[in-house]
Amino acid sequence: GASALWLSQERQKASHCGFFSPSKGNFKVCVCGGSGGIGQPLSLLMALDDNVGELSVYDLNIAMVPPAGVAADLGHLESKVQVRGYAKGLEEKAVDALGDCLQGCDLVLVPAGMPRKPGQTRDDLFKINANIAKEVVEACAKYCPNAVVALIVNPVNSVVPAMAELYKKKGLDPKKIVGVTTLDGVRANKFVAEIAKEHPNNVNVPVIGGHAGVTILPLFSQDKHAAKIPQAEIPALDKHVQDAGTDVVNAKNGKGSATLSMAYAGARLGKAVLAGLAGTPTTECAYVASDVEKDFPYFTSKVTFGKTGVEKVHGIGSLSPYEAKRLEEAKAALKKEIQSGLDYAAANS
Ligand code: NAI
Repeated sequence: GASALWLSQERQKASHCGFFSPSKGNFKVCVCGGSGGIGQPLSLLMALDDNVGELSVYDLNIAMVPPAGVAADLGHLESKVQVRGYAKGLEEKAVDALGDCLQGCDLVLVPAGMPRKPGQTRDDLFKINANIAKEVVEACAKYCPNAVVALIVNPVNSVVPAMAELYKKKGLDPKKIVGVTTLDGVRANKFVAEIAKEHPNNVNVPVIGGHAGVTILPLFSQDKHAAKIPQAEIPALDKHVQDAGTDVVNAKNGKGSATLSMAYAGARLGKAVLAGLAGTPTTECAYVASDVEKDFPYFTSKVTFGKTGVEKVHGIGSLSPYEAKRLEEAKAALKKEIQSGLDYAAANS
């Protein structure tokens, strides 16, 4: 019957390598900026997810490694995935390459854009990176309007509102645009695990607010191991999580920002989205269109990904007095960064 037909269709889709796992999805995923510092390891980690049937690696034809090369390389992994590379060449051909690579995509991961240099803030990057994101997001609107578009490109706090508003104006669901803040939670978990002498898998600190400086608000009170850390140590730990990105920028000394840990975090979010699409609702913190905090149309909180993408945006839960105070500080900064995004959308639609 219907399920036999479904099985045979799925087998056909996977038949290029004779590999088939019936319990898994067969999704098409694109990594835009797939030849970059984040893009390459992110493509590797996504190619290893059994929910991925096809992976598109998209980048500029002047990228450090041609996307076709990244694709050829990843094509030899012992996974079911079929990998294809797409290069953005001459301007008039750009849209065609993006169209082929995005057609039928379920998830688009976007680490395309300039990374921060020492002394640069995420806001300095906004103009350059918003234009890069706009090109990708407009192509998603055209070729894969139902895909979840996960934006890694910084400054996330402003780029996500800008792009989600563009989706709204096209009559598309702004919740398809998801800001990737997973790395903040990954770092908070790691730092707590080190203090508590626990495996990081046993730690789960929600990080809410946004994804830059004081807008990054780890809720240590909501994790059972972190909650045991003396209150006097919390402000420094909080700051350590906020500054972790800058620590990597400084350690790389002008040669880029976090790439490997970001790829790990991006893949964690990407796999959660695909698990949801495949029928297993999965929850991660993410920065999305939201109504959990009054007057904040975009906010990071726990989000459950289901069969259509963002299924539920959860409230922030109970806060310690320190966290409640920090929330006000986070909101004051986030408000301005959201506004930059809204202004960009108003000026560029
Ligand atoms: P990178 O420079 O190594 O790679 C960026 C890639 O994007 C390059 O291969 C470049 O050719 C490509 N690219 C540029 N313009 C493009 C366009 N119009 N279309 C397609 N591809 C294009 O930079 P890296 O280190 O991979 O960082 C990428 C972005 O991720 C930066 O904006 C960075 O700030 C951000 N980031 C975000 C984090 C987060 O937690 N959300 C953490 C770390 C970085």
